[in-house]
Amino acid sequence: MPSHRVDKLLHDQVSALENRNVSKGRELVVSSMIEPTGTNGPRVTLEGYGTKPFLRFNSNSYLGLSRDRRLVAADERAVREFGVGPGAVRFISGTYRPHVTLEQRLAEFFRRDSALIFSSAYSTVISVLAALTTQDTLVISDELNHNCIINALKLTRPKAKQVYRHNKVEELERHLAGGRGEADRVIVITDGVFSMRGDMAPLHNIGPIVERMDDDFPENVVLMVDDSHGVFCLGDTGRGTEEQCSAKPVDILIGTLGKALGVNGGFVVGSDTLIRYLRETAPMYIYSNPITTGEAAAALEALNIVDSTEGKQRIAALRKLTAQFESGLVSLGFEVIMGPHPVVPLIVRDTTKTQQMVRHLFQAQILATGLSYPVVPRGDEEIRFQVNADHTPADIDYVLSVLADFGAR
Ligand SMILES: Cc1ncc(COP(=O)(O)O)c(C=O)c1O
Repeated sequence: MPSHRVDKLLHDQVSALENRNVSKGRELVVSSMIEPTGTNGPRVTLEGYGTKPFLRFNSNSYLGLSRDRRLVAADERAVREFGVGPGAVRFISGTYRPHVTLEQRLAEFFRRDSALIFSSAYSTVISVLAALTTQDTLVISDELNHNCIINALKLTRPKAKQVYRHNKVEELERHLAGGRGEADRVIVITDGVFSMRGDMAPLHNIGPIVERMDDDFPENVVLMVDDSHGVFCLGDTGRGTEEQCSAKPVDILIGTLGKALGVNGGFVVGSDTLIRYLRETAPMYIYSNPITTGEAAAALEALNIVDSTEGKQRIAALRKLTAQFESGLVSLGFEVIMGPHPVVPLIVRDTTKTQQMVRHLFQAQILATGLSYPVVPRGDEEIRFQVNADHTPADIDYVLSVLADFGAR
């Protein structure tokens, strides 16, 4: 197929990203895992860097469960029984016992009627918004919402879309007032935890606003929250941003199985009617394979751990390590967005300096993510550190000492 002209255009676009220093570049390849030794937590080796052990401060596996032997064993048992892939979408012949049990357990954990799993949180968000958005729907969205929400809105094309400044609930309220008489249905959508900043949507304030305005719209104001970074690691028992903010349960809660639980996949919990409707209408549920039975069984095992004394201890340990890291950064004079979530952003406010610091950390065998425009607004350049429960206090001290060394230079 002749494609050289389009290839040239694509090549030019990638080169433009490279020239502006904003390309993602070559991915690092993890080649082996190193068990904890002495006072050190786990390390990884990287292809091209020999046997050097690297400390990961950029993993979403917040509770340190992704290599837990109980999850691995649950995955193996399911795979031996059912095979490595589902073989079909759910409504044809791709529904297995581990999928159903996981859905029941997720609903129970979040104290909702029902749950539905998808292959990722990204596809959950797109599918749920696509299924619920009508030609008379107004969607109101936080400006810093995740890319999956932004793309879902492009794809679903509601009657109107309003974006409020980050966490400015007065603006959200004004948009709701402005939608009276214009829209039948309103969907207010926000991340629970914002992935670049680790801060939370004030659900305890948003919920009452939504309730107050609800009678003004014939098809309700529905509050939908993507709490992919919050579920299973925020709140004393891991119920996420709702628990951390002492907020009432939101109408539609979406999360991932691929961060704190350490596995893979996405889910939504809500009313029985909502979930029955989504089984009939959500595009990526109907037309795309589910997660494997191994993933479902491992996620179930992880969920049972979270919902036990050990889970609460892991969450408490994670909080303590996060506090140690944040107070260490502040003592070193860095600007930090403080909070209980294990995403710890060190605000640099300069692209070149961010890159220099990330390089300095890498040379000291620490992996952390530098974020520049367009991933974060210009002027908000930062290094995103992610604390995990299998880090040790000595790991945290080591990162702080490397950052102190950068400051001293
Ligand atoms: C808010 C939010 N939603 C969805 C996702 C995507 O999750 P998944 O990998 O399960 O698609 C992310 C991942 O970073 C996220 O931060």
